[in-house]
Amino acid sequence: ACSSGHVPLAPRRLLGGGMAEEAKRAAAWAAVENHVKNNQVLGIGSGSTIVPVVHRLAERVKQENLNVVCIPTSFQARQLILQNDLSLTDLDRHPELDVAIDGADEVDSDLRLIKGGGGCLTQEKIVAGYAKCFVVVADYRKNSKNLGEQWKKGIPIEVIPMAYVPVTRALTRRFGGGAELRMAARKAGPVVTDNGNFILDWKFDKIHKWNEVNTAIKMIPGVVETGLFINMADVVYFGMEDGSVCAR
Ligand code: 5RP
Repeated sequence: ACSSGHVPLAPRRLLGGGMAEEAKRAAAWAAVENHVKNNQVLGIGSGSTIVPVVHRLAERVKQENLNVVCIPTSFQARQLILQNDLSLTDLDRHPELDVAIDGADEVDSDLRLIKGGGGCLTQEKIVAGYAKCFVVVADYRKNSKNLGEQWKKGIPIEVIPMAYVPVTRALTRRFGGGAELRMAARKAGPVVTDNGNFILDWKFDKIHKWNEVNTAIKMIPGVVETGLFINMADVVYFGMEDGSVCAR
C-alpha cells in the first residue's frame, strides 16, 4: 500500500542554515516527492520538520496544479496549511487519508516512534491512524536502535486536566520513573493542548516492552493518548548530516 520508491534529494540551492535544518529539508523534500500525487487527501503533522514539508508541498501544488486537500494535526498545522494557500479539510468530510506526513522525536529500527514533543500527539495519532500510508520525516538526531535510547525528555502523555495527579501516581507506581506536568514558558501555567488537556512527560527509568506499556497506559483512567506510535509508520526519511536522505 505504501512504497517509498527512490529517494530524490533537495537541490543544494534550497539548502541553508544549520546542519539539522538542512537535514530536515532534505527529508521533507524526499517525502513530498515520493508520496504526494494528484487527488490525494493528506495529513499534515506538527513541529519544525513539517514546515519544509508544507513549503515543498505548496510549491508542487502550484507548479503541477495538483488537487490535494489537507487535514491538520494541530493549530500550527492548520495555520501552515492556510498560510501556504493549501486546501483545508477535516475527518468529517474525508474520514480516510491517502498519506499522512509527520515528524518524530525518536525513531527506532522497527519504525516505532516517540512523538508529542510539541504536545500534538493525540490529533497526530488520529490522523496517522486513518491514513493508508504514514510517512515520517526526521533528521539524523532522531535515529535510534531501541526506542527510548535517544529522547531524554520523557514520553508525552495527554491527560484530562482533573486527573493529572492520580494518573501520575498510577503511572509511576506501575512502571517506575517519574512524570512531570509540562509547563508553559516561564512556568506561567501548564501547557494546554489543542484539545484542552494537559501533558505529562513520563521519564521512564528503563527500556520497556513498549507495545505492552502503551496499551497498559491507555487503560489508566484520565489518559487520553500516549506519544508511543507502535506499528504505525510505513516509511521514515532521515535527512543525514551529509545532505543525503536515508529511507527506512
Ligand atoms: C509534535 C511532534 C513532532 O512531530 C515532534 O516533536 C518532532 O518535532 P520536530 O520536527 O520539531 O523535531 O510529535 O507533537
